[in-house]
This record gives sequence, C-alpha cells and structure tokens, in this order.
Amino acid sequence: MNVLVVGRGGREHAICKKVAESPLVENVFCAPGNAGIGRDASIVNIDEMNFADIASFAKEQNVGLVIIGPENPLSAGITDYLEQEGLKVFGPKQNAAILEGSKSFSKMMMEKYNIPTARYQSFEDYDAAKAYIEQEGAPIVLKADGLAAGKGVTVAMTLEEALASLDDMMLDKKFGDASARVVVEQYLQGEEYSLMAFVHGENVYPMEAAQDHKRAFDNDEGPNTGGMGAYSPVPHISQAINDQSVEDIIRPIAKGMVVEGRSFTGIVFAGLMLTEEGPKTIEFNARFGDPETQVVLPRLENDLVQVMLDVLDGKDPELTWKDESVLGIVLAAKGYPEAYEKGHELKGLDAIDAGSVIHAGTYSDTDVIRANGGRVLLVTGSGSNPTEAQKHAYEKMQHVDTEHFFFRSDIGSRAIAKAGL
Ligand SMILES: Nc1ncnc2c1ncn2[C@@H]1O[C@H](COP(=O)(O)OP(=O)(O)O)[C@@H](O)[C@H]1O
Ligand SMILES: [Mg+2]
Repeated sequence: MNVLVVGRGGREHAICKKVAESPLVENVFCAPGNAGIGRDASIVNIDEMNFADIASFAKEQNVGLVIIGPENPLSAGITDYLEQEGLKVFGPKQNAAILEGSKSFSKMMMEKYNIPTARYQSFEDYDAAKAYIEQEGAPIVLKADGLAAGKGVTVAMTLEEALASLDDMMLDKKFGDASARVVVEQYLQGEEYSLMAFVHGENVYPMEAAQDHKRAFDNDEGPNTGGMGAYSPVPHISQAINDQSVEDIIRPIAKGMVVEGRSFTGIVFAGLMLTEEGPKTIEFNARFGDPETQVVLPRLENDLVQVMLDVLDGKDPELTWKDESVLGIVLAAKGYPEAYEKGHELKGLDAIDAGSVIHAGTYSDTDVIRANGGRVLLVTGSGSNPTEAQKHAYEKMQHVDTEHFFFRSDIGSRAIAKAGL
C-alpha cells in the first residue's frame, strides 16, 4: 500500500524511516517533509494545514494510510476531514485532539478520572488568577491553555516571575487566544520522563519510555527548548514505575475520553514526573513526541504500519522492543531558542551513515543541504547500554561542522550517572 505522512520535522523523518521498512508499503509520501525525509520518502509540496490538497493527493495516489505527525492539523480537525473523504487516518479526531489542544480540558479530565497530576485552577479572569497566584506563592507553574509551540509554560521560581508571566499571557496576550485562559498549577519536583502509547478507544499499547533534555546548554542550564536530545530506554525509571504509569495514567485517560464521547485513536504522549508520591502527569500530547520518537521508534521490532492497521482494526498488536539503548543528539542553530540565522550549509553529514541522521529543519538547495529551523537535525547512536549509545552518537556528531551550529555535550550523562550503566 501507499502511505502518506503529514509533517516536516524530526518526528516525521523518524516515522518515514520506520514506514519505509514495512514490507506492506510500496510508496512513502511526506507532506511537506524536509531535505532528509526526501531520501526516505517522496516529498509532496503541500502544507500540513491544507487539508483539501492533502485529501486530493492521497486519493489520487491511492494512499491506504495517512499518519499525522504534528498537533496543529490534529487540533484543526485534519482526521475528521480526511475520514470524511474516505481515507484511513492514524491520528485523533478534533474532539479528542483537545487533550493536547486545551490544557484546562486535560486538567479537568485528570481531576474527573482521578489521574495523578499537580493541583491546579484555570482562569479566564486576570484578577482572579493574580489573587490565586499571590495566595499560593512561588514556586508555581503557569500554562497558556492552548497550543503555543512548546513556549507557553512558565515554571516560576519567584512570585515576581509568576506575576510577570501572567501579565504577558493575559494582559499582553503573548500567545493570542491560546493564553486567553491560563492554567496555574502546583510546582512538582522529581524525575521527568515520557511515555507514549498507541491508543484506540479503551485499548492501550504502551511503548518504552524515553527521556529528553529540555534546556539549551550542558548541565541542564539555559532556556527551555523543544528538546536538545533524548534516549530510550530510561534505566533509572523502573519497569514497575512504567507499568504504574500505564495503569494509573494512560489507561484511565483513554477510558475517560471514551466515557466523554471523545474516543481517542492515535498516539497518547504522557509527559510524566516521578515524584515522591509516585508518577504524576505533567501533560498529555495527542501525537508522537519530538525528539522522543526519534529514539523510541528505532527500538520497535514490529512493522509500524502493521501495528497502526491492527490498532485501527481493533486487533491486539504485540509490541516487542530491541534490547538496546538508542540516544539522539540535537544539532541546533547558534542562538536557538532565541533568534538564530537560517540558510547556513550543513557540512560533514556525508561522513555519517544516513540511517543515523534524522532531519528536523533542513532544505535542499541544488546539491547542498541548508538549515531552516532552530533544531536542525538529530544524530543517533546505539549500544547495549547508555554509555555505549552515547559514545557512538558523539563519535558521529564530531563530523558535523559547528561554525553555525551547536549541540549539548552531555546528552545521556544523567542516565549514566543515575543508573551506573
Ligand atoms: N507542575 C509542574 N512542575 C514542575 N515543572 C513543570 C510543571 N509543569 C510543567 N513543567 C515543566 O515545563 C515543561 C513544559 O510543560 P508542559 O506542560 O509539558 O507544556 P508544553 O510541552 O506544552 O510546553 C515540562 O516539560 C516540565 O519540565
Ligand atoms: Mg511538554
């Protein structure tokens, strides 16, 4: 069959690579893709939000499965649209994608279905929010309700910072409509990790855990980013904690969505924190995580397309995982996550095996590849433990010219220190 992947980042490149391995698949298309995706799939020049053209293309090309990568088209109803056009889609409908699209909806669901999470209140009224923050004190966390490309959260260590962030969100409308409502929640401490699962109604098929590095610089310093690297599995999160996370968090949210008449089909991504009281939910996303997917999918032994078709058909896929560590290091443009330059040529990639290079923000310019994003690409390494995976990933990364780019030099060190592996 032919498969169409919608999106243009590292996550979609990882999905395309995996789809291309499937013996069921004849052609892999990706709309709109990037330079690296162009090596593993046929690039289709259609924007993610242009549902009509995506539908016509998919029908013309006899596409048997459309996989949606990013949250924006999901929240805007791409699944509903394509299904109405008769296409088979892997991704939640709009009324289920709200699990990511509205943080207050998601917190309400956690409260209603007894899913462990930080205590919270949500506000549309500035004065009420301000009074609540003053009463709670710092540290405290503020979250724009809607989609904000990973920039809508402030973890405020002081009251001043919290109130300044509230002003940005509610008075200056920093995130437009997305911050017309703000969730204010208790600050949680602990070890953060990510757990994704294939979900169809009440059926939940968990993947293995991953951990990413959100801060820009070594030792978890500097501003928050979309993620500077990741690895899977997470040796310092035990199997018992993973199982508990599935039973107490992912299964109940899947079931709750069914009860609400918002049955979820697709990937539930749970951002979790292992606190002293056990695992608690930081957030849910309604799609594969980025960069977690880039280190989790290479470990999946199953045919991804077969798994998705089985999940959609209500069959029970049995997921099996390679017993190895995969670690990915992000190459970012100098200046990211603040202002950075685009258009610089990527040099040195030819020295790295193509299978280990996952492109995020790149484009082809005649015979060179140039950067057009903050996060440019990710290089993976694997091994029997995180130390080996880290060594292999950094050996490859050495070949990349860093005149205009940078990467963290300590991806995975936390796992190595904590687990002694
Ligand atoms: N209640 C909390 N306590 C401590 N840190 C938090 C809390 N909520 C979020 N964070 C931190 O902020 C980051 C971003 O928050 P998240 O809810 O995942 O929003 P998004 O990914 O949409 O920006 C999290 O990965 C976590 O590091
Ligand atoms: Mg998050």
